[in-house]
Parts: sequence; structure tokens; C-alpha cells
Amino acid sequence: MKNHTIKKLAKISLLSALVLTGISWNTHPNKINTGKDPIITVNGLTFKDLNKNGKLDLYEDYRLPVNERIKDLIKKMTADEKASMLIGIGMPGFDPVTFKFTTEGFQGKVPGAAGGTYELKRLGIPTVVVSDGPAGLRINPKRNNDSNYYYATAFPVGTSLASTWNTELINNVGKAIGNEVKEYGVDVLLGPGMNIHRNPLCGRNFEYYSEDPLLTGKISAAIVNGIQSYGVGTSIKHYAANNQERNRMGVNAHVSERAMREIYLRGFEISVKEAQPWTIMSSYNLLNGTYTSQRKDLLTTVLRNEWGFKGLVMTDWFGGYNGFSGENGPFTPNSVSNVTAQLSAGNDLLMPGLPSQKQAILDNMKSGKLSAAVVNKDLTRILELVMRSPSMNNYKYSDKPNLKENAEVTRQAAAEGTILLKNDKNTLPFSSKSVPLAIFGLTSYDFISGGTGSGDVNEAYTISLIEGLTNSGFAIDKELEGMYKPYAADQKAKELERREKNGGLLATPKRLLELELNKEIIENKANSSEIALITIGRNAGEGDDRKVEEDFNLAADEVNLINNVSEAFHAKGKKVVVVLNIGGVIETASWKDKVDAILLPWQPGQEGGNSVADVFSGKVTPSGKLTMTFPVKYEDTPSFKNWIGTPAENPTSVNYEEGVYVGYRYYNTFDVKPSYEFGYGLSYTTFDYSDLKLSEPTFANKMSVSVTIKNTGKTAGKEVVQLYLSAPSKSIDKPKEELKAFGKTRLLQPGESQTITLELNAKNLASFIPNKNAWIAEAGKYKVSVGSSSLDIKKSAEFTLAQEKIVEKTNPAFALDVKFTDLKH
Ligand code: BGC
Repeated sequence: MKNHTIKKLAKISLLSALVLTGISWNTHPNKINTGKDPIITVNGLTFKDLNKNGKLDLYEDYRLPVNERIKDLIKKMTADEKASMLIGIGMPGFDPVTFKFTTEGFQGKVPGAAGGTYELKRLGIPTVVVSDGPAGLRINPKRNNDSNYYYATAFPVGTSLASTWNTELINNVGKAIGNEVKEYGVDVLLGPGMNIHRNPLCGRNFEYYSEDPLLTGKISAAIVNGIQSYGVGTSIKHYAANNQERNRMGVNAHVSERAMREIYLRGFEISVKEAQPWTIMSSYNLLNGTYTSQRKDLLTTVLRNEWGFKGLVMTDWFGGYNGFSGENGPFTPNSVSNVTAQLSAGNDLLMPGLPSQKQAILDNMKSGKLSAAVVNKDLTRILELVMRSPSMNNYKYSDKPNLKENAEVTRQAAAEGTILLKNDKNTLPFSSKSVPLAIFGLTSYDFISGGTGSGDVNEAYTISLIEGLTNSGFAIDKELEGMYKPYAADQKAKELERREKNGGLLATPKRLLELELNKEIIENKANSSEIALITIGRNAGEGDDRKVEEDFNLAADEVNLINNVSEAFHAKGKKVVVVLNIGGVIETASWKDKVDAILLPWQPGQEGGNSVADVFSGKVTPSGKLTMTFPVKYEDTPSFKNWIGTPAENPTSVNYEEGVYVGYRYYNTFDVKPSYEFGYGLSYTTFDYSDLKLSEPTFANKMSVSVTIKNTGKTAGKEVVQLYLSAPSKSIDKPKEELKAFGKTRLLQPGESQTITLELNAKNLASFIPNKNAWIAEAGKYKVSVGSSSLDIKKSAEFTLAQEKIVEKTNPAFALDVKFTDLKH
């Protein structure tokens, strides 16, 4: 079956299923607890009489520890109420008839939010509102019978945020997002997304951070801490091994325990340990034969017992249902996920919640298949979330977040996440404002702020490249603008119409065709302008992955544009700058030599054009670094051989045979030359590295590594300092080197220096050794390499570990359900 037929079926079956399940989307109340509960006074203290029985119940008594209050609450709940609480309230604002998000019908407390927990009116327990997503709060900007707007800030996408390598800045972005979540009445943000970029084609890579788990974990922890500092929650997602979109609800990812622990879980582990997210979202896929939402090893043994996670696990939306593929298709009135397996594994809350799930929970509670102990444990976690939520505490949100200040935050973040890939003969910064800039590529006129699907944000505006440059005082060639603007608008309108017809929010975007310009016009511009800019645009979103042709690789119309503009401008001794307004990796090796400079701002959020103009003009010196490898050709990708699983049109099985050799771990160990390596990014200035010092020659329990960075150029700038470690490989095969710490200087003025100190702990030295069920640091020599990219090492030093160290013992987990051995070198 052709992919598009499958997808069509998928959408139809989800649609019909939602109709058939008989969910009454209008039966939900529109308002929740208004906070006007009667008050009880005891010894001069006032308490809310949540159940209005005129008495102070234990759960209403805030002097008691939360667990005692929750015990009392659970005791008071009927079986029906318990079952209702274990699932969500459905998907508000989602019209099952048109399969579109709508402003008609049930909207919930915050229209456009993705769901919520059950409102237990009888006991005065409100719904907890959960809403996407990773690049900012996704809610509806308009509400029925309301003339106000509820726009949220579109921040840079995950990839762009991570490219800053600046945890302090990311923490500030988190605070800005937290402010919007809280002031719009939402309790939990469904983000950040933090799956590993296993393959450049994953349609959701833009939402995620990196091919490296340490960087992923640190960026995630920084944003979670920022968001949660506002007293609202996060949901780090999608846990785990959700590295592709096609058939995401039915694909079985076969991954070795070592690859799981070192690559696919490590980021989550760091985020849990350093930020304690309020919630975590299990993924859609199966892992080694079992849905992640049903895996006790994943959700309890590792997550809670080994890492100490204290929060709640929720499923992804309709997670645990067998894909959309027909036969056992999920969405028939009686179909149901294996609720008992999910709840028993430690997946506390089933989202968005379907009536069939509630019935199954009730049946299984009755028959004893679902034990009271499990139900109480899961309910306790849900109620802990409720108790700490702004909704429970009647937070009077303003619906007026700091949109103005947050626009400034996103502008700065996007500028700092911009990577300068190429800059021959100091093409950039470009400051001459005397002659209009010749701007090519329709995306220049219609910038892409972020990807589609649940990672989208409903922002008030997006500053395009031409608007940004104009705001910075540059003149724009009017003839080109006059041709491109209407063309871009027309193409975009057609694309939106196509997407509307194909599932709306969930329709995966298509690339827009470039405007064909005759050579004469381009030559005229080469005469009249001093420099050309060409923007290459890409968009993607959940539900499907990208393709190699005309997506990873440039399309013929784009290649022509680059060729024609470069030839004409170079013939006049003028330069060409390419701006990559993309969400994921594309091919660069075949065309990069034709242009003079390449700027990679990714999908930079609503202030994108201003952010790019800041870097283009030199107001901001670029300091972003790649968080993933740009291969020379797609076929070089380590997962190329087994991507996208089998059968390719609708994969049900995929083997992660490359094991831990993901991204630079593969390229560097196997000496495969990339187009641009992990950690790479240029600056307008230069830095000198000196004085690399280890705090001791022999490792005991931890070690500090310091290095002095001096700005040796003529412009103020920041430098990302990366620490790679090469460990002895005695009992297992190890990557040549791995990122173990990083830091970023402050803005260094020319001539100024800063010493950066990075810490190594025992876990940084260790690898997971499967047959010993332990993270072990092997005895021997370790090499510390400090540099400005994974291939540009400036200084190195060695230390020894005298004796093997068992850093952590683990429990057996993630047994493979098929046979294969991980790649070795
Ligand atoms: C996505 C999640 C998202 C959820 C709710 C799902 O389709 O995979 O990332 O949070 O929808 O919108």
C-alpha cells in the first residue's frame, strides 16, 4: 500500500473511531471550580470546604502532609471516580467529525489545550490543564464570543535552542514560557521534547535537541527548571526511543540495553536528576516488543527506582493503541489499550482518555486484574500533581503574559542559536546600507518560525527575513520583493488549503516550489546590489518523516537558484549568503562551495527575521554550534542501513543496529568525514585556548578541568567550550570520544579572557557494561580533549584511573526481542 493511502486511512480511522467511541464532546462543563468554595474556620485558620459538607475533612486541611490528605481523598472516591481520574477528559477543541481543531463545541478551561485531568466536582477537585509544547504554549488565539486574543510567543524550535549551548539563556527561555503557561491558566506544559536525533530524516527532530544525550539532558534540565520556577509543570517527552514518526503508534524499536542507557535514556536521566520534571510522557512506539507505556522496567525500575523520579507518567495521546493501521485498529467503540498493563507498569495517567478505557479500568478493578494497590499508587501520583497545580490553588491567572518582554527573550535566543557555517573572506557581518539587498528564495518573504503539529505555536506574528532586515535599517530590492511577496503568499495559501484538506494541524507540510527567475533579472540585481541573500526553507511535523529527495537533498529549483545567483553575483565580484530556515539537517556538501557564507538560524521563532538581521549586521556575533552532524551525503548516516524499518511504507519493526554509534560517536570513530561536524560553528572573532589544567593527575571521585579562553579577534563574542573524553576500551567497544561537559563564555571583548571550569564525575568516565549490569569506569588512561568542535580540538591532557570503578549497579532491563549485535569498530 502506498504511504499516502495508509496515512489517509490512518486519519479516517482515527476520525471515525472518535465518532464511534461515542464521546460526547459537549457534555463537559465549560467552567471548572470557580474558587468560591465555602470557608471553614478552625482556631482562627480558614480552610476551603471543598466538598461543601460543613466539616473540615483531612484532605482539606493544608496543615497535614500531602500524602495524608491524598489518602483521605482516595478513601472518599467511588470506583467510578477512581476510573475517571486515571484517564484524561478527552481532547478539548478537537472536532472528531472534521478531524480538526475547532473553536466550536467543548473547549475546556483553556481553549486549545491538549487535555486535562478529571474534574471531581463532588470533592471540589479541579481539572489540571495540560497543553503543548516545546517551542511555546500552544493554545487557541481566539475564543468564541470573546474579542480578545490569546496569542503565545513562538520561541525558537528545540534544535535552535540547543544550538546556543547556553544553559543560562535556556533557563531564561524556560522562565518566559513558564510565565505564559501560568498566566494563561495552564498547569502543565507538554514539553520539552528530547528524543535523540538518531537520523536526520525524523520529522520531529526540530522539536528535539541533539544527537548527543548529555547536551540533550542539560538543555532539557535548564528549560524545565526555568518553566517550573513559575510553579507550573512540564512533561519531558517522548519516553523513549521515539526516533521516527512513520507508524509511530505501531513501530517496534529494537534497541540494546546499552544503547538505551547510554544514548536514548541518558538525556532523560540527566533531566530527571537535575530538574525533577513534574511529569514525563511515555512514547507511542513499542520497545523490544512492548509498548513503552506498558514497560515496568522503563517506567518504574529505571525511572523511579534507579533515577529517583518523583512525578507522574502520562501516555502520549492515544498511546498504547495499535497504530492506525486497520485490523486491530484502535478506534472502534470497544477497542482499548491494555489499561491494566499500562497502569501496572507505572504509567499513571492515560491520555487524552477514552470512555472505553474507563470501562476497562472499572471491569479490571472489579475482576481484581487491576489491583487496588496499583490504582491507589497511580491515583496518588495524579493527585500529587493536582495538589501542587495552580488550578487547585485557585491561581488567578491574568490571561496577560509578558508577551512584549518574551519577544525580546526569543529574539536573543534565536540570534544565539544561529550558527555560522561558512564565512569566506569575512563576507559577514555585512553593514553597508547604501544599496538595496537582493533577496532571493520565497522563504525570505515568508519565514518559517517553527514546525507543524503539536510543536506549533499560535503566535501573533512572524518577522520574516525581509522585515527583520528592514527593521535593522537595510534597504530591500523592491523589484524582487514585488515578485516574491505575492508568489510566496499564493504558494503558502495553496499549501495551507492542502493541509486543511489533509488533516489540518496533523497534515505534514510540503516544500514550496521556488519562483523561477530568468537570468536577466538576476544579472540586473548583480549589477544593482552589493550582496545576495538566498533563503532555503524546510518544514516538517509529527506524523511522518522527511524524505531524501527534495527535502534532505536540495530540489532542482533550489539548486538552479543557487547556481544562477552565485554565477551572476560572482561574475561581478559580489558575494552570496545562504540562510537556512530549516528544522532538520539537509545536504550541504554539494553546493556549499558555490556560496560565500551560510547562516543557519533554524526555525527561529516569531522574531526570526530580527534575530537573523542581528547576526547578519554584526549586532550579535554568532556563537551557535551544531548539536548534530551534517553528513556529506545521507547514505553516510549511521542508521541509514536500517532506517526506517520494515516494511518501509508502514514500518512495524526497526533495529537500532548502530548501537551507541549515533551521530559524531559514529563519524569520529569510523573516520567518516562530515560536511559539518558536531559542535561546529564559526564566529566573527577568534579565540585562543590556553592553560588546560586538570585538578589532579589521577581520578578519585571527581575532577575539574579548566581552560582559559581569550578573544583574539576584533569583535566581542562568546565561545562554546566542549570537553570530549576518550576512555580506555578494555571489556567493551567504545566511541573514540564523547562529549562529557561543555560551557560558554560570557561576551568577551577583544583581548579579554575567561577561565572556564568544567567538572567530571565518575559517571562521566563510565560506560554501561551489559553483562555486568553496571556503569563501570575502567582503569587506565583517559584523554581529555577540549575544543571548539568535535573535530577542532585545541588542547588535550591525560589522567589515570588507577582502579576500575563500579559507578552504578543497575537492574536487568530492556531484553531484546529479536537477535542482532550492535555495531562495533
Ligand atoms: C504528540 C505529543 C503531544 C500530544 C498532545 C501527540 O500527537 O505526540 O507530543 O504532546 O499529541 O497534543
